[in-house]
Amino acid sequence: MTGPVFTSQSKTCAQWEARADLVVLGSGVAGLTAALRARQLGLRVLVVTKAAVDDGNTRWAQGGVAVVLDGEHDDGDSVAAHAADTVTAGAGLCDAAAVRDIVGAGPAAVARLRALGARFDASSTGLARTREGGHSALRVVHAGGDATGAEVERALVAEAGGRRVPVLERHVAVDALRTPLGEVAGVTVLDPHGVPGVLRAPAVLVATGGLGQLYQATSNPEVATGDGLALALRAGALAADVEFVQFHPTVLYTRGARGRCPLVTEAVRGEGAVLVDATGAPVMRGVHPLGDLAPRDVVSAAITRRMAQAPGGVDDHVYLDATAVPGFARRFPTVHAACAAAGVDPARQPIPVTPAAHFACGGVVTGIDGRTTVTGLYAAGEVARTGLHGANRLASNSLLEGLVLGERAAEAVAADLAAGACADPRLGQPPETDVAPVAERDSLQRVMSRYAAIGRDAEGLAVAGSVLDLSSVDSPLWTQEAVEDAALTLVAAALIAAAARRTESRGCHVRTDHPGRDDAAWRHSQPLRLSPSGQPVLAEKIVEAAS
Ligand code: SIN
Repeated sequence: MTGPVFTSQSKTCAQWEARADLVVLGSGVAGLTAALRARQLGLRVLVVTKAAVDDGNTRWAQGGVAVVLDGEHDDGDSVAAHAADTVTAGAGLCDAAAVRDIVGAGPAAVARLRALGARFDASSTGLARTREGGHSALRVVHAGGDATGAEVERALVAEAGGRRVPVLERHVAVDALRTPLGEVAGVTVLDPHGVPGVLRAPAVLVATGGLGQLYQATSNPEVATGDGLALALRAGALAADVEFVQFHPTVLYTRGARGRCPLVTEAVRGEGAVLVDATGAPVMRGVHPLGDLAPRDVVSAAITRRMAQAPGGVDDHVYLDATAVPGFARRFPTVHAACAAAGVDPARQPIPVTPAAHFACGGVVTGIDGRTTVTGLYAAGEVARTGLHGANRLASNSLLEGLVLGERAAEAVAADLAAGACADPRLGQPPETDVAPVAERDSLQRVMSRYAAIGRDAEGLAVAGSVLDLSSVDSPLWTQEAVEDAALTLVAAALIAAAARRTESRGCHVRTDHPGRDDAAWRHSQPLRLSPSGQPVLAEKIVEAAS
């Protein structure tokens, strides 16, 4: 096997060029899993990441991987029960076949990960398991207490290093190369100094993670700027469910915090912690039969309502009382360290918490094999919309999906290459323009947090759309910051369009002017693509949910 080929020749203004069979954008769980599998299948693969190889969203995942392992599960639990919980959380928009398939593939995916050396926490009877919101059984396996993502990333990075998978760190993908027939045949890239280059490949896998940086407060790292979704949309791909952004009920609250806020894993509630308001009254009492372990959309919306009804006016946080959780520091070392840094001792005092943007339930439409609607373009992980999450993702289903879809996408690429179904990468051309609308990031985040977070209405969404339009300036995509800001601007416009049209409340999409769920009119996903002038357009034809 040979590595990718680097040359200095280029037919474009690019100053450097490389070739591979598969370019993987992103080095989180889905990207590295795909790269490793592609390498195993004999493909020349090149991973491109705009930060360091282990700097993505994956390493921040705390709770774990939801999976029902053979012979290691609660009495009465089953893959079917896990699938049923996933569909319930998804509020009517999951694709039931995709759910069955992906959840069913979980045990084998976790076994492969363990075979690579990932170490999960053990109990006296096997792997330790906990519960998170929306799960009817203890089936979330974890590592390092609350550092599951970090362990998954460690194992994958170590394996990729051991197998010499080439990784271009601190390179950002700008746009897809496309053939005259519209097939994807590589990407344009900026190196760490902003020098443009071209990566030619018959297959590109987008595994760039999420878009939490659309909002002022998020559990996501700085890199989560929606780049992959924007790139795929500009390449002609279909997206869906982009209005469903999941807000995690509990990040650590500190006054005026912006950007990535430390997560307080839902597993803390799984071990008995209770959400209370400033008067000590339980937030979830009478709200849902699962109480503090209701699905995330329900808990986040309940906290938001309680904050709005605070006796002294709108409050910006509630509390998580974990004082009765035994051995907190040992069980949740990451959360404990974040609390300690903020001067909070969870063993003695309630933790101040607030909801924050956490996960994009929608994204680039793919099958359960990572294939998108564009030849040569594949997607996996948070950026993809497989139909697993519907209108609200079930806790700890994301690492699971990344493991399963990463593997599958690599296999789909290998099969497509063997069948001659992909384009000749020499035919790929960059887009005619490298200019895109860019809104100033701070005002974009403000307007999205104010009008397009939990609790939206027609008027606010219209304001958000206008502010975005008026403040966007066509800018050249010559720096990583410009590429990210252009992505945030495009993805915000797509989200606002989808949220404005969905005149109901469902899952993570809460409309204060349409508080009820309207199954007769809205039990379907909204597909979205770009018009020839680059505007997000909601397609008339709907994708029927198969559940
Ligand atoms: C958490 O630990 O609460 C987050 C895990 C997830 O988002 O699935």
